[in-house]
Amino acid sequence: MPGDSMDKPNTVTCTAPVNIAVIKYWGKRNEELILPINSSLSVTLHQDQLKTTTTVATSRSFQEDRIWLNGKEEDITHPRLQSCLREIRRLARKRRNDGDPALDSMGFSHKVHICSINDFPTAAGLASSAAGFACLVYTLSRVFDVEGELSGIARQGSGSACRSMYGGFVQWIMGQKDDGKDSLAQQVAPETHWPELRVLVLVVSFAERKPVGSTSGMQTSVQTSRLLKHRAESVVPGRMVKMIEAVQRKDFTAFAELTMKDSNQFHATCLDTYPPIFYLSSVSQQVINLVHRYNRHYGETRVAYTFDAGPNAVIYMLQQHVPEFVQAVQHFFPPESNGGQFVKGLPVNHVALSEEL
Ligand code: ADP
Ligand code: DP6
Ligand code: CO
Repeated sequence: MPGDSMDKPNTVTCTAPVNIAVIKYWGKRNEELILPINSSLSVTLHQDQLKTTTTVATSRSFQEDRIWLNGKEEDITHPRLQSCLREIRRLARKRRNDGDPALDSMGFSHKVHICSINDFPTAAGLASSAAGFACLVYTLSRVFDVEGELSGIARQGSGSACRSMYGGFVQWIMGQKDDGKDSLAQQVAPETHWPELRVLVLVVSFAERKPVGSTSGMQTSVQTSRLLKHRAESVVPGRMVKMIEAVQRKDFTAFAELTMKDSNQFHATCLDTYPPIFYLSSVSQQVINLVHRYNRHYGETRVAYTFDAGPNAVIYMLQQHVPEFVQAVQHFFPPESNGGQFVKGLPVNHVALSEEL
């Protein structure tokens, strides 16, 4: 158990990776509990790619809970942060009340200081809320020595965060209950299941914050888009079944086609939202065209794109095709066009593209 002395802060640091959905979550049926209108499925990236690092310290001398995000203090009273803190403390208290004597000296009543850093752009459509809240909940669980199914708590921080609690291929089952107890993430297959699968993040925009955040964007979509309702009720359920099968069979063609179609339909619902939301830029559209031309050239589906709520492209492909596809990208989007810049902190398989192309 960390933290023997009462005054010395008890400190725990953890990291969590982002996940990129191939069947997208967009729309809530319950805003407070963060319950979605459809199930979704994602791939969790490796920790050495895009990740959040969070340190939580507790001490009896702390006067209040506080949080710093990327070095800047943020408002701890934010309802989603409060939900995560409340739920973890509730579990910790429950364990103590259930009579685990080892927990007597834990100090759940102690305040926490949270310090979190993303090594990639925050709120830019690269799933910072997913890695961020998954990391927060996991780190808090280590500090308070809480175990068990934590995806339901991460979900209450940000919906997509529940999927980052597991590695590999993960589904978020929407659930049926009003209290959200059955709206949880579940691993479909571990990362070792399909080791040839690769992810390439093409950074199309260096802009930090997207103009319409996921939370408010999907709210407007739920209120105004009939296409979204149709998608959630009549399209996604069938796609979830097919996607799980494609992953289990390691059928790249099926995986890739479902991924692209789902990304396209998600962006179509954004356009069907009123007023419309544009997350794709002209460079994103050029990437889409490049992928289709590339696949047509080889007469098979070798590469798939998907875009979250932002213009940056996430490309899925098999290892054997990475060098050639990277060459094609560099040919059509030469690095010189943005001064040869690569986004700081991103690993080698991230290719930076320029907005001006
Ligand atoms: P993204 O596409 O990056 O997920 P969102 O609009 O979904 O963008 O969420 C961005 C918000 O998520 C941030 O404004 C912040 O409130 C929260 N967030 C991002 N990173 C972290 C983090 N490391 N810890 C806690 N909250 C975070
Ligand atoms: C397009 O999980 O960021 O990335 O639940 O309001 O925090 P909140 O939204 P968030 O939405 C993610 C939307 C998406 C698709 C996905 O990740 O499934
Ligand atoms: Co997000």
